[in-house]
Amino acid sequence: MLKRKDFVKVMIIPPQKIQFMEIELVKEAVKLVVVILAVVGIECRKLPRILEESFEVEYSAISCRGHSASIEEFGGVGDGETLNTKAFQEAVNQLSQYAADGGAQLYVPAGKWLTGSFNLTSHFTLYLHKDAVLLASQDIDSWPVVDPLPSYGHGRDAPGGRYISLVFGTNLTDVVITGDNGTIDGQGELWWQQFHKKKLKYTRPYLIEIMHSDTIQISNLTLVNSPSWNVHPVYSSNIILQGITIIAPITSPNTDGINPDSCTNTRIEDIYIVSGDDCVAVKSGWDEYGISYGMPTKQLLIRRLTCISPYSAAIALGSEMSGGIQNVRAQDIVAINTESGVRIKTAVGRGGFVKDIYVKGMTLHTMKWVFWITGNYGSHADNHYDPNALPVIQGINYRDVVAENVSMAARLEGISGDPFTGICISNVTIGMAKKAKKYPWTCTDIEGITSGVVPTPCASLPDQGPEKIEMCDFPTENMEIENVELQRCSYQIRY
Ligand SMILES: *[C@@H]1O[C@H](CO)[C@@H](O)[C@H](O)[C@H]1NC(C)=O
Ligand SMILES: *[C@@H]1O[C@H](CO)[C@@H](O)[C@H](O)[C@H]1NC(C)=O
Ligand SMILES: *[C@@H]1O[C@H](CO)[C@@H](O)[C@H](O)[C@H]1NC(C)=O
Ligand SMILES: *[C@@H]1O[C@H](CO)[C@@H](O)[C@H](O)[C@H]1NC(C)=O
Ligand SMILES: *[C@@H]1O[C@H](CO)[C@@H](O)[C@H](O)[C@H]1NC(C)=O
Ligand SMILES: *[C@@H]1O[C@H](CO)[C@@H](O)[C@H](O)[C@H]1NC(C)=O
Repeated sequence: MLKRKDFVKVMIIPPQKIQFMEIELVKEAVKLVVVILAVVGIECRKLPRILEESFEVEYSAISCRGHSASIEEFGGVGDGETLNTKAFQEAVNQLSQYAADGGAQLYVPAGKWLTGSFNLTSHFTLYLHKDAVLLASQDIDSWPVVDPLPSYGHGRDAPGGRYISLVFGTNLTDVVITGDNGTIDGQGELWWQQFHKKKLKYTRPYLIEIMHSDTIQISNLTLVNSPSWNVHPVYSSNIILQGITIIAPITSPNTDGINPDSCTNTRIEDIYIVSGDDCVAVKSGWDEYGISYGMPTKQLLIRRLTCISPYSAAIALGSEMSGGIQNVRAQDIVAINTESGVRIKTAVGRGGFVKDIYVKGMTLHTMKWVFWITGNYGSHADNHYDPNALPVIQGINYRDVVAENVSMAARLEGISGDPFTGICISNVTIGMAKKAKKYPWTCTDIEGITSGVVPTPCASLPDQGPEKIEMCDFPTENMEIENVELQRCSYQIRY
């Protein structure tokens, strides 16, 4: 039904909409009549189709599209019961024909849209209305199985293949998944139970996985109860992840928030995560498979992240880091009731490197270890890892950290014969918990320096004096991905 605000909208059609005026004028004129009819109480249910309402959707994106269609036009039914897998796949297939003609948007209106996995296409936007929920099908047998990732050699839950992700894309360019904070619900409970009972034949699906792709945006969405990882960009570049809320029970297995994996130029910002595993886990392949694939994660920016994850890290680097991790900046990180801040996890056999890591501005509350570096993480893909493949951990900078209610300031463990070097920690104030451990720092096989750190660090991180409080690097020039600006897109949606 038309409401009073529709009447007002007629009066304020902006001049740039003039090209729509021909049709719109007729429709708006009829609407006016309807408003008048409605006011005088006349039944108007049977007025012609031209009265379908239309409204505008506006948001920011890496590119705007020339065409837009609703999932309902492809037979989608948002009743929470009808399975929409075919409707989604048909919609994407049909809309892919516009790739060379301005691209297309698939609009998902309010409703509960039960679906199995579907694949995306290039020059494509998936947009979820604020009350739209994509509900992942719980019929495990209906999930296609794909090969393990080449840089992992194995699935992570089971040695063979992996269930394909709910929203999947490979070999694409220019893809946007966004919404007015619409929801993707993985209904993960069943998968978590199967995992705990060791009944899984294959590795659990992720909510969103984008592989071998370039120019990707995932924004303004809420992701809940993923079967496993939430967002997994892998072998991809030029990625913007923005304004995402991720929620899963804090005890749910492997519900990592965002896992950039062998990716270049990634910007992750304005993110809120409560989960059962690392909020952001930076990766690049596993042991001998990752070493031979040889694709690092580099030029990564993470800023304005809020994390709650009592059994994991706000940001983890590894443990799968065999292709290398380099040039990562993390800024303005808030973690509450989280096991550790920015943690490095690695092991003998991983090879690869973690270097040029810059962290600035962390506010932490209730934490086991503010700084945690683990050289003996174990967890191997198989027994064929090379015992001589030692990781290089070098140039790790942390500054401007305030933490409260902490059990241990730091637990820094390198590898014997392979010390982790160039660790710099400055301007850090850690308030210890009432029941804190007796020795706030433990350090083995690490080398570095500190300044202005409370409580007093271990002897292998000598204090350089208070005048060096700003010494740990945080580069000032923008990263390439910071310079990417989003465009304002607007669409007329009819229903
Ligand atoms: C996400 O939503 C916020 C607040 O509604 C808005 O400011 C921002 O531009 C949106 N981002 C994108 C990428 O649409
Ligand atoms: C989706 O992509 C995967 C991997 O390329 C492929 O195995 C699967 O058949 C595709 N699904 C459809 C419906 O095209
Ligand atoms: C996708 O890209 C990868 C890496 O470039 C390539 O190895 C693979 O064959 C491509 N797959 C398809 C289906 O084009
Ligand atoms: C998006 O929805 C989630 C879950 O309802 C909520 O917690 C969050 O604050 C919302 N975000 C925005 C920007 O409205
Ligand atoms: C030290 O850190 C605090 C809070 O993290 C920040 O406000 C302050 O500017 C920093 N001091 C210097 C000298 O950088
Ligand atoms: C401090 O941390 C402990 C766990 O180590 C927790 O039980 C307690 O509630 C926290 N106190 C505050 C004031 O947050």
